[in-house]
Amino acid sequence: MQRQPVDLIVEGGTVVTDAWSAPATVVVSDGRVVSLLEEGVSTAELEPDRRLDATGLFVLPGAVDPHCHIAVPLGEFVTLDSFETASLAALAGGTTTIVDFAIPTPGEHPLDALRSKLVLGAESRCDYAMHGCIAGTPTDVPGIVRGFADAGVRTVKLFTTYRDELMVGVDTVERVMTALQEVSGLTYVHAEDNDLVESAQARAVESGRIDAHGMAGTRPMAAEERAVAEVLAAAERTGSPVYFVHQSTAGVVDLVVQARLRGVPAFTESCPHYLVLDESAYSGEHPERFVCCPPLRDRATVEELGQRLERGFLGTVGSDHCCYDSKQKALRSSDVRIMPNGLPGVETRVPVIWDAFVASGRITPQRFVALMSANPARLNGIYPRKGTIAPGSDADLLLLDPSDTRVIRAQDMHMETDYSPYEGREVTGWPSVVVSRGRVVMEDRRLHDPGAVGVFLHAGPVTVE
Ligand code: URP
Ligand code: ZN
Ligand code: ZN
Repeated sequence: MQRQPVDLIVEGGTVVTDAWSAPATVVVSDGRVVSLLEEGVSTAELEPDRRLDATGLFVLPGAVDPHCHIAVPLGEFVTLDSFETASLAALAGGTTTIVDFAIPTPGEHPLDALRSKLVLGAESRCDYAMHGCIAGTPTDVPGIVRGFADAGVRTVKLFTTYRDELMVGVDTVERVMTALQEVSGLTYVHAEDNDLVESAQARAVESGRIDAHGMAGTRPMAAEERAVAEVLAAAERTGSPVYFVHQSTAGVVDLVVQARLRGVPAFTESCPHYLVLDESAYSGEHPERFVCCPPLRDRATVEELGQRLERGFLGTVGSDHCCYDSKQKALRSSDVRIMPNGLPGVETRVPVIWDAFVASGRITPQRFVALMSANPARLNGIYPRKGTIAPGSDADLLLLDPSDTRVIRAQDMHMETDYSPYEGREVTGWPSVVVSRGRVVMEDRRLHDPGAVGVFLHAGPVTVE
């Protein structure tokens, strides 16, 4: 019998994509999946360097995190991790592709911001893609968008809030949408109406509630609803697709669903913290550790948002990873307008969502793959290279143990911070082995640093069907 050398065989597990789930063997060579063999098909003629026994495990596509902020200066603070530490934390948590944002500092040209980010990306341990970002009142939107596309970036982030730093008006939203249509790209929007945010903040100042304990009242749900409605109207006028990052209420998800029913290609992302944590965190001992925009919502809203996820109304779950430590968070906690906002989460996204929605029986593993891998890959123009397990796709595999129960402790994590918003939470369903382009990078809870082997993923046309 002719023996065929291959790099890796993963056998005995249940392979799951967003389309199917079955016992199967994954055969890997040169960093790619070369074949999938049905259960019972002999592998005797294969000569692998390594066999992984996945008995009792789910074999999922490596997770794709569509929303990470790495080494980003926002206001007075810079997030603490580098591409090295963020990507290692991602791998430890089962995420094999991260997508960062090239956010310009005030006055910086968006293409310069992208160039600088791509230099930092060279340190990445996992593969990565990039969103461009346009802020303020740019003069040559089509030129900037073409520049992004030539550099391999077809998703552009806009903020309708953060005055004087990042905010854009609806005119710029429309111009970006129109320009992105030319390159089959997608507009990503942080949608909160800035006037409503600023008036809520002014009221909080008057009532002495502008500190972290008062966070929930400073960015009302109505601000999200008004901005989402306005951006959806722009998408409808231009006929362009739109993706809303970090949606925090069922109300805004429903606006997106209604727009889809009218034929607008609109997409919802939410984050683990909006799906499991609630605003009671702002009454605790360290409210500042939970300050993010939009803020955590009341428990009833969290439950309603979870129902929307169960019904299939969410497209993706991103981490909105922002790695500040407890000292940075505490430094300006008396005024949420100048606090560093955002939560660390690239490493906890997979186990927290598996536990809350799959282990609890609310969604299937297939739906989990859609939310955490396949849809983020499609909506970043990197599918099917990423986001699935199929012949020709990159061999990014997450072997998840559904019976592994652990308590989240920041000290056990690899993120460049000393706290986790999920500290003390018991979670079932953890990565057991992680494979990144054919390399085993995590097993037996030990991370093997592969070095700076992550590659920048040039985005193709974004899939919006
Ligand atoms: O609070 C958050 N989400 N901070 C990060 C920046 C952003 O708005 O995504
Ligand atoms: Zn945002
Ligand atoms: Zn963000």
